[in-house]
Amino acid sequence: MNGKGQSEQKSIKILGISGSLRAQSANSRILSALQHLLPPHVEYETYSKLSDLPHFNPDLDDSGLPVHGEVGQWRAHLAWANAIVICTPEYARGVPGSLKNALDWVVSSGEFVGKPTAAIGASPHPQGGSAALDSLVGTLGMMSAVIPEGAGLCIPFITKKFAADGTLNDAETEDTLRKLAAVLVETAG
Ligand SMILES: Cc1cc2nc3c(=O)[nH]c(=O)nc-3n(C[C@H](O)[C@H](O)[C@H](O)COP(=O)(O)O)c2cc1C
Repeated sequence: MNGKGQSEQKSIKILGISGSLRAQSANSRILSALQHLLPPHVEYETYSKLSDLPHFNPDLDDSGLPVHGEVGQWRAHLAWANAIVICTPEYARGVPGSLKNALDWVVSSGEFVGKPTAAIGASPHPQGGSAALDSLVGTLGMMSAVIPEGAGLCIPFITKKFAADGTLNDAETEDTLRKLAAVLVETAG
């Protein structure tokens, strides 16, 4: 308890973003597990329309016209949140193109500036998607997001960590996610 009563607690709104478009995505499942580890007063939403965003084109971004459509929705989701968690696979030693495209759309609009952001890479490989995580952390740093100590995480051997129904079934990963959730909430609060 930090001395604040329930009524004085700052509203905490977390947006979860999976870098995978797959229906059975392990990264999306990690986000579901994380949601269940958040305190009850935290509002949590996910953004799952990365594939609806157009290819980033600075000409469109610099047109001076208000951005409508899915880009506007994407920015509105990010603006709603006061903390963000991104969980991504690694494709060819990098961040999936659809996630990078989405991030490119908000470099100049600034929704990440000063915002506590957790970055998770999850992969079946022993390195746990460390190259994608390093790349993501670099992009977030360039956008002036704040990655708190303990909120950058690689999860290796990801496919072995779920039960048949897709729920997380690994105590060590759950413990690590619980700590990450606590750090994110503490930083956002
Ligand atoms: C085209 C492709 C390239 C991949 N490249 C890598 C890679 O460089 N490093 C890695 O750790 N995993 C790589 N993988 C494996 C993904 O990390 C793995 O499929 C992951 O579980 C996908 O996440 P998801 O279950 O959330 O969709 C690759 C997978 C695909 C389909």
